[in-house]
Amino acid sequence: MLELIAASRTYDDGHPVHALKPTTLAIGNGEYVTITGPSGSGKSTLLNLLGLLDSPTNGGYRVSGDETAGMSAGHLGSLRGRLFGFVFQAFHLLPGRTALENVELGMLYGPHRRAERRARALRAIEKIGLAHRAHADPRTLSGGERQRIAIARAIAGTPRVLFCDEPTGNLDSANTATVLRLLRELNAEGLTVVVITHDPEVAVAGTRTLTVVDGHVEEA
Ligand SMILES: Nc1ncnc2c1ncn2[C@@H]1O[C@H](COP(=O)(O)OP(=O)(O)OP(=O)(O)O)[C@@H](O)[C@H]1O
Ligand SMILES: [Mg+2]
Repeated sequence: MLELIAASRTYDDGHPVHALKPTTLAIGNGEYVTITGPSGSGKSTLLNLLGLLDSPTNGGYRVSGDETAGMSAGHLGSLRGRLFGFVFQAFHLLPGRTALENVELGMLYGPHRRAERRARALRAIEKIGLAHRAHADPRTLSGGERQRIAIARAIAGTPRVLFCDEPTGNLDSANTATVLRLLRELNAEGLTVVVITHDPEVAVAGTRTLTVVDGHVEEA
C-alpha cells in the first residue's frame, strides 16, 4: 500500500544534509512496523515522507498504487487526511478544550459534518477506554491518558495507517504498556501501524522492524 521507490530526502539550508539515502521500501496493509536507529539517523524524515507530511527530493512514493510526485498540495492533504493518522511524543492537545473537543478537532478538515464528528469522537474515546474523562481538560489528565486521547484523535477519522513518532517517549513503563496494548488491538482490527521508537520494548511489539542508520534503512 505504501511504496517508496529510490526515494531520498536532502535538506539544504546552506550545506546539504542527506537525511534519507535512496530508499526502496514497501509497507503492506495490516503491517505493524517499528523503526529504530540512533538520534539524527533519519527516522522522522522517513516517517514524514511515508505520512505525506514531506516529499522526497528524488525518487517516487506510491500510495495505494498512485504516484504522489506531482500531486497538488490540496490533493496530498486530502489523501493524508483520509488515509493517515498521526501521534507524536508531545501530545499536542489544546488546553481549555475538553478531551472530546480535542478529538473532534482532529477531524475538522476531514469530510465529516459536526454531528458525525461528535459521534466518531465519542466512539474513539470509548475505544481507548476514557469515556469517563471525555469532558476533562487535558491539563487534568495523566501523561498516559493524554497520549490515549491523542491516539483517539488520530483514529477517530478511521485512517488506514497510524504513524507514531516516539509515542511513549514521555511515558513511564505502565503507561507504555497501555499504549502498546492499544496499538496491538488497533492493528489486530486491520489498522496498519508504523512506530518510531528508542524503546526496545516498543520496538519488539511490531511484526517487522526497520533500522535506520545514517540515512540507510535496513530490515532488522
Ligand atoms: N528541516 C530540517 N532542515 C535541515 N536538516 C534537517 C531537518 N530535519 C532534519 N534534519 C537533519 O536530518 C537528519 C535526520 O533527522 P531526523 O529528524 O530524521 O532524525 P531522527 O532519526 O528522527 O532523530 P531523533 O531520534 O533525534 O528524532 C539530521 O541530521 C537532522 O539534523
Ligand atoms: Mg525523530
